[in-house]
Amino acid sequence: MIKPFRFQDNAFFILDQRRLPTQEHWLTCRSAFDVSQAIQTLAVRGAPAIGIAAAFGLALAAQSGALLEDAAKTLISARPTAVNLAWAVRRVMAAIDGLPPEKVFERAKKEAEDIWEEEIQANAALSTLGADLFDEDRTYSILTHCNTGTLATGGMGTALGVIRELAERGRVAMVYVDETRPLLQGARLTAYELKKDDIPATLITDNMAGWLMHQRKIDAVITGADRIAVNLDTANKIGTYSLAVLAKAHKVPFYIAAPMSTFDPDCPTGKHIPIEERHAAEVKSYGGTVVAADIPAYNPSFDVTPHRLITAVITEKKVFRKP
Ligand code: MRU
Repeated sequence: MIKPFRFQDNAFFILDQRRLPTQEHWLTCRSAFDVSQAIQTLAVRGAPAIGIAAAFGLALAAQSGALLEDAAKTLISARPTAVNLAWAVRRVMAAIDGLPPEKVFERAKKEAEDIWEEEIQANAALSTLGADLFDEDRTYSILTHCNTGTLATGGMGTALGVIRELAERGRVAMVYVDETRPLLQGARLTAYELKKDDIPATLITDNMAGWLMHQRKIDAVITGADRIAVNLDTANKIGTYSLAVLAKAHKVPFYIAAPMSTFDPDCPTGKHIPIEERHAAEVKSYGGTVVAADIPAYNPSFDVTPHRLITAVITEKKVFRKP
């Protein structure tokens, strides 16, 4: 399994996801600010991964004696939608609360390592629970969106973890990988991970999903989540809502796979989830080249799928079928 980050020689190293799959480049972060920049610019992305990175960012701040409250604010404000980010930062802050200064760095680093380790365990548990939902006597063609694998979690993945577990059990006929416009997390990152694992995969553009479902080529859709409200409304990468509507129309089961750290007890419904809006340039360009005419562009990075369109939410603790 790829290891997407490491703490070494007093620095935090991130496998730069902006450069994958063409280059495996390690970005060096020496401060919480460096980590917040890496999160903002998507060098590291995916809800659990940005939580882990932010936790190590706080450890860097503790190491250099920086003001921890300020570092925590900078890290939390890097991206607004994935609740794992604030959750991880608050968890490290709680762990070091009241400690003598000489103990703060080691404790913060240990908490970050624990968060990562728990993520690995949660991924494995939810992948087993998710794979158990599928019949044993047949194979499946599964559609997934964005990247929910090792790069996004530090573990075997959430939606991609379930797919990996199904592949391990010989149950995967084909994984259809949504390109995931505008930043191509599917085409660049999910395709990279599936290729490394030798799992049969086919790339499609996002607007092909409906036609594939119409042709009965998709048996199930599995995606990840950035924030899950108490009523199970789920924010995930833009395009997830469209897939859920299409799945409903074609009677294809639509699953969300996410660790419990992606639930937000302070969000009663999806209406309360803040949606990040990114720069228009991301929509107007392709592969770094501007391709659009001179026109304004709208770029919400996430959408919210209402719980009535979700067959089940798979977590490491249990499978939720109703709010
Ligand atoms: O903008 P991104 O690439 O960070 O968006 C990521 C997603 O939407 C993932 O599906 C989600 O974070 C789950 S990752 C296990």
